[in-house]
Amino acid sequence: MHTSFLHTQLLLRQRVFVRADLNVPIAENGTIKNDKRLKSMLPTIKHIQKRGGKVIIGSHIGQPSGGNLEHHLSTRNLVSWFEQEGFVVDFESDMLAAQPKTYENQERIMLLENLRFFVGEREYSMPFADLLANLADLYVNDAFGTMHRNDTSVSLLPRLFLPQNRGWGLLVEEELSHLEPLHVAPQQPLMLVLGGAKAADKIPLMTNFLLHHAPQAILLGGKLAFPFLAAQGKNLGASQPSTEEITLAKQVLDNLRSTKLILPIDFVVTNDVITDIGAQSIDLFANHLTNAKTIFLNGTMGINDTPADSQGTAGIINAIAQLHDCTKIVGGGDAVAAVETLGKANAMTFLSTGGGATLAYLASENPWQELPGLKALGPAA
Ligand code: 3PG
Repeated sequence: MHTSFLHTQLLLRQRVFVRADLNVPIAENGTIKNDKRLKSMLPTIKHIQKRGGKVIIGSHIGQPSGGNLEHHLSTRNLVSWFEQEGFVVDFESDMLAAQPKTYENQERIMLLENLRFFVGEREYSMPFADLLANLADLYVNDAFGTMHRNDTSVSLLPRLFLPQNRGWGLLVEEELSHLEPLHVAPQQPLMLVLGGAKAADKIPLMTNFLLHHAPQAILLGGKLAFPFLAAQGKNLGASQPSTEEITLAKQVLDNLRSTKLILPIDFVVTNDVITDIGAQSIDLFANHLTNAKTIFLNGTMGINDTPADSQGTAGIINAIAQLHDCTKIVGGGDAVAAVETLGKANAMTFLSTGGGATLAYLASENPWQELPGLKALGPAA
């Protein structure tokens, strides 16, 4: 159990740098489209404040090119959200000028501008890390979704704090409490339900589970299924995948051993292009899932994630939601959003805030060595 060091820290008057993952979708007019990630890190902020600590939040939003300032990616867009939650926000766009104010009231937080607006963030830069380290006495990483990144605030900044003054927050603790058992000793029968677009993103995870846990079944939808179907000789017409993807799929097929690979058997086709899995495939998948004790769902079954191709995803999520006595973990923005849209969040065991980070965690041999953010928090860092 990876308990957060925050439970035992006395924080009175200490300045705590919280690396958060506030990478939420924001519309051109600055409206936040989904605030799940913001809500998920509130327990950490409130915990620090309750213990008398002063919170300084640093995060990225999006991938601004070359450190360019793009207004819709500014963390300034989040200020009113935090204010609605009852915080007083000191927004700071200039790291050099940043000075934590006197915190005469508990609800005050300092919110730094999008860290990726500063070139040092993506360059593992010691000067940028120093600048951030000077703001705080303690470092907390509560950005599970960025643990796979080598960004300065994730992998270098924590090393500038003594081991007793750095650690992970309550959101990361919660993520680890669900993902570690899934990674190390999932209850069998284990089934992986994977969709989405890119085979390259999911194959390391499949390979790792095949090596260590022999899932009873891997069920594939979305574009991800195409190279597997093609590798089995199916003609996908205009939806034919690339040769590279077919080669990757063949590597998985060669290592299946006792694991069953369940692929769609019918499709919704619009203008000669496959857009979703069909009704028979939904039934086939749902039947297989009935005896699962552990399910990991990542990615969607439709091809373009439009309302027109969301039937497959809805069918699978509804089938999973009905299962009892089964650990059901969902990762990745699209799958989590679909679960929430369908109102099935309470029927799942856990919705991970990570996308690529969750996949990287589950695909690794040793996440504490392989994910830069976790490695930087370990005792040997
Ligand atoms: C995510 O959305 O998965 C995390 O915030 C990481 O974002 P990134 O892929 O831009 O590094």
